[in-house]
Amino acid sequence: EHLALWGGRFKSGPSPELARLSKSTQFDWRLADDDIAGSRAHARALGNAGLLSDDELNRMEVALNELQRRVDSRQFIPIEDDEDEATALERGLLEIAGGELGGKLRAGRSRNDQIACLIRMWLRRHARMVASQIIEVVKALMDQAKKVGDAVMPGRTHMQHAQPVLLAHQLMAHVWPLLRDLDRLSDWDKRMDESPYGSGALAGNTLGLDPEAVAHELGFSHVVENSIDGTASRDLVAEFSFICAIIGVDISRLSEEIIIWNTQEFAFVRLDDAYSTGSSIMPQKKNPDIAELARGKSGRLIGDMTGLMAALKGLPTAYARDLQEDKEAVFDQVDTLETLLPAFAGMVRTMAFDLDRLRAEAPTGFALATDIAEWLVKQGVPFRHAHELSGACVQVAEGRGVDLWDLYDDDFISIFKDFLPEDMAVQVRVVLSVEGSVEQRNGKGGTAPVRVREQIAQAQRIVDRA
Ligand code: ARG
Repeated sequence: EHLALWGGRFKSGPSPELARLSKSTQFDWRLADDDIAGSRAHARALGNAGLLSDDELNRMEVALNELQRRVDSRQFIPIEDDEDEATALERGLLEIAGGELGGKLRAGRSRNDQIACLIRMWLRRHARMVASQIIEVVKALMDQAKKVGDAVMPGRTHMQHAQPVLLAHQLMAHVWPLLRDLDRLSDWDKRMDESPYGSGALAGNTLGLDPEAVAHELGFSHVVENSIDGTASRDLVAEFSFICAIIGVDISRLSEEIIIWNTQEFAFVRLDDAYSTGSSIMPQKKNPDIAELARGKSGRLIGDMTGLMAALKGLPTAYARDLQEDKEAVFDQVDTLETLLPAFAGMVRTMAFDLDRLRAEAPTGFALATDIAEWLVKQGVPFRHAHELSGACVQVAEGRGVDLWDLYDDDFISIFKDFLPEDMAVQVRVVLSVEGSVEQRNGKGGTAPVRVREQIAQAQRIVDRA
């Protein structure tokens, strides 16, 4: 049994310890469908090269269909002795087609070009799935942004009140990284669009097979230019792994925001019951577990990427068994994202903002101080002085325990006296409103309602094209 793949020069099969270490069916069996698709294409390439007769090719295709049926119905699954998915499927094929015919399929291919091709096929398919799930998160964010309209909130830097912004602007700030992640995935797919089938173990094959035809059948536009590169490189797997990690990071940053907004102290947002959890001991608790799991899983996604990069570093350039380590990393990332993203989208879609509270908090913490300074600049005061004068307003207000708009006319008159006449000084009040503040930030990309609406429309165009 053990000798099926390489019996010729071996006196014994592998030790049980080796077999246990070597085995990968527990994670690579998910490549079985892609492997069978590859085998179909390879069989036709053998047929075209005259290495399978029409009749043999026919019977091979029937056998592969039967194998697929048995795999689908789980009538055929890997057994203890199968090393990897390819070994198992070969056993299955031999069972169905017999050794005479089944034994012909391995000609001109190696598990090295096979596995390199399969991981590409699998990743390309799942990249599309992940992309469609990201679009759902994006849509959920954009629906919220549209729904809250011109509602304002406290914008923060360093977590301190900085300047009022539109809630929609803040939400859209999480949309753009996700749209770039989508762009990364489709850009990556272009590089991934080359089939390694035909590279053989490392040097290509002698049998006159047509790798182009195989590539096209398997959904690739091209064949790799270099058979060593085709079998040994994993930079594209690593690139995918990075994209998964950055998706995790992008989602995690939004999660952190939601977790904070959802605290009693902030109380900016409430999560829907269906997307929150309770406590087994504290009856009053309602926890943002989806956001927390997203934040936690971002660490795991980064870890998978880091492990893969470490495995690749320093490998000699042609196949080495270390390369088998690529799979669990990206499988785990895909499983993680495919489970996480739908729950995350649901949480975002159903969360409810307390717009009155956001409005009330928006100008507090002297968040309009920059508006005073910029208003002074428009009156011809150099920014250096404007910054100081506005700071002086903050100091007076803070000392009195009031907000900027509570200052008396006389306060503004005496603070601005070296730069502005009295009648002008009091006009600063026009910018001491949140609406005035956000409306004036009307340069491209700013938080003015008109700009935010433009921004949402632009994002919508990108989503519609995706
Ligand atoms: N299971 C291996 C992998 O995932 C492919 C097998 C190649 N094995 C070999 N001895 N060349 O990379």
